[in-house]
Amino acid sequence: MPTTPTNPHLPFGDDKNAPWYGKDILSVKQFSHDDLQYVFGVAHEMRGMVERLGTFDLLKGKILANLFYEPSTRTSSSFTAAMERLGGSVIPISEVKYSSVSKGESLPDTVRTLECYADVIVLRHPETGSAALAAKYARKPVINAGDGVGEHPTQALLDAFTIMEELGRLDNLTVTMLGDLKYGRTVHSLARLLSNFSGIKLNYVSPDILRMPRDVIEEVGQKGIPQAEFNALEQVLPDTDVLYVTRVQKERFEDQAVYESVKGAFVIDPDVMKAARHDMIVMHPLPRVGEISVDFDDDPRAAYFRQMEYGLYVRMALLAMVLGKA
Ligand code: NCD
Repeated sequence: MPTTPTNPHLPFGDDKNAPWYGKDILSVKQFSHDDLQYVFGVAHEMRGMVERLGTFDLLKGKILANLFYEPSTRTSSSFTAAMERLGGSVIPISEVKYSSVSKGESLPDTVRTLECYADVIVLRHPETGSAALAAKYARKPVINAGDGVGEHPTQALLDAFTIMEELGRLDNLTVTMLGDLKYGRTVHSLARLLSNFSGIKLNYVSPDILRMPRDVIEEVGQKGIPQAEFNALEQVLPDTDVLYVTRVQKERFEDQAVYESVKGAFVIDPDVMKAARHDMIVMHPLPRVGEISVDFDDDPRAAYFRQMEYGLYVRMALLAMVLGKA
């Protein structure tokens, strides 16, 4: 076995010319139509590899710092699982109260610390723009795992991959987003991402005070995507291919009385779903807090548990991409 690498461009086996090598993933706005097809292709391969092998050594020796300033179950554990299934390892910092953050350390200093030990940083933080701020200070790639009410790009990528794997296309779809469209960062990212595809029609169904932010509607409108807003689901459900349900984001309300007044605005149950087609799907980023009845879980259209699994493959793809292995 040679003791020195044979390819001078690959001193440590990383392909530094790979298109996403060393890049931050901060917003879905970074992804063109072709980039999205590329991510889905890699994620699809990851799915096959996990099904065949379970775990393999693509990222052996690489370390991920998983830095979470807000609660998380799926995003945090799926990034951990993704790294470990690729043979890498993880520094988990989800209890920031036990880290130097509780001593008043700034986000830039925290990421400058973690990049001394890790090859990539995944960050969830309550402030919009925090991932971009971290990326400004870090030399290693930063992946935005949710920045306040801003964006949640990896969730939107896994949502789109779910639609692709479940319905076989991302063109010519009517997607209805339901619930808290104001504070729900997943729908901000997903609406922007879907605007890259043709024949997409977006319906936004929410209480008046939780409407989709105007800047998102403007951006999506500039791509020529038809969008319409509603207060009730009945009108749009029969034509819907993807019903994307969201939780009312209790933690983002200044006045809890206002939260109480809208929290139960929409509930999806088998009765409501009688009006929907048999070949559509229901998605939810989860956690749910009553907006989808458990009585609907056994319906084949309930895709929200499968959606979580697709998230593993997409996050494996993204880690491999930014570390120069895809
Ligand atoms: C979402 C989030 O954190 O924005 N959860 C997730 O990442 N799956 C949705 C939510 O919290 O409602």
